[in-house]
Amino acid sequence: MKNRIADANLAEEGGKSYHWAYEHMPALTRTITKLADQKPLKGLTAAVCLHITKETSVLAMGLKTLGADVYLAAANPLSTQDDIAAYLASQGVHVFAWRGQNSQEYQECIRDILRSQPDIIMDDGADTHVTIHEEAEFKNLKAIGGTEETTTGIIRLKALEKSGKMRYPIIGVNNAYTKHLFDNRYGTGQSTIDGILRATSLLLAGKKIVVCGYGWVGKGIAMRARGMGGLVTVTEIDPFRAIEARMDGYEVIPIAEAAKIGDIFVTATGQYHIIRGEHLSVMNDGAILANAGHFNVEIDVDALEKLKKKKTTPRRNVDEYLLKNGKKIYLVGEGRIANLVAAEGHPPEVMSLSFSNQLLSAVYLSQHKGKLEKRVNNVPIEIDRQVAINALEAMGIQIDTPTEEQVKYGESWIV
Ligand code: ADE
Repeated sequence: MKNRIADANLAEEGGKSYHWAYEHMPALTRTITKLADQKPLKGLTAAVCLHITKETSVLAMGLKTLGADVYLAAANPLSTQDDIAAYLASQGVHVFAWRGQNSQEYQECIRDILRSQPDIIMDDGADTHVTIHEEAEFKNLKAIGGTEETTTGIIRLKALEKSGKMRYPIIGVNNAYTKHLFDNRYGTGQSTIDGILRATSLLLAGKKIVVCGYGWVGKGIAMRARGMGGLVTVTEIDPFRAIEARMDGYEVIPIAEAAKIGDIFVTATGQYHIIRGEHLSVMNDGAILANAGHFNVEIDVDALEKLKKKKTTPRRNVDEYLLKNGKKIYLVGEGRIANLVAAEGHPPEVMSLSFSNQLLSAVYLSQHKGKLEKRVNNVPIEIDRQVAINALEAMGIQIDTPTEEQVKYGESWIV
């Protein structure tokens, strides 16, 4: 099958980014090097639907090094870095992605990678797993198993599991400690701020920044926004997270109130229509909206369209909506995942951990063919732990080992 990419001439540029990421993902690259001779994925086909970034290029090349034939599609119509897609295509990865796909093209490319009859399906957001389970064309696809990268994807797959219709085991990479504690918090924390800054080039210090949702992603964004001098307010529906946010020192108020005071709004809930028409109508002139969640459903963009008098694009990745009430609202990246649309996603050091889990989970699936339950399985703790050890090693950090006395103390119920 022929590659579907924007421009094969971008391969050289993409190669430079690949090498930059490779140099900064030591936990992953050491794992690849250790397994390279064994080729544990030899003879297997992997359909990979991830954001096509320089970090993903290191994973895709790693899967190839371990023996897999790799088919790659994008996890978002706007997140593909075309130079990376071109580089991977030049290296023998089958790539079906370009930046700026429409919804139909996006879905077609997912079908394209599935036509390779993959043994392993690696996904971010679960669109690929859902396509396999929904579309008649793939009803006979027999996969060894799959993985899922993100919180939103796991929620969808849990629902699939509950329906009793899941056809192969899936490993929920997001549930690994070495994934969500670092990627979701520090990765999204930094890269979302990065996306807002690259898009707007405005000052954060002194701005009222409203973070909607205080899960790991929201925590990371709030922490980094405060670090840049922003006055951070959190909105939540979960009482535990709301208390946590308050005790972390943030103001916690409902979105209806926050809408009236915020300068910058960032949604990080994984939920539907967090910022709606009634909120948009009362916002300050010049308010900026950005979404950090996987899908573009957190900001009601249709409501914004209905309220507008005029729409212009003052900068790449920023749309200016002049509302009928005379106020302007700026939307970053069409309300799609801002860190990947307006910046380059999480930094390589963070993706090094997340993608070590992906790679090792793929190897684990291949070694446990037919033995895992058809449900969302956790990343085995040995893998999670090994990824942490590799990351510490890569950072040159040493930790202590418990003494015999301490082991005994920990195992006894008598003090
Ligand atoms: N998700 C968030 N950041 C990413 C990155 N840099 N590469 C791939 N997927 C990502």
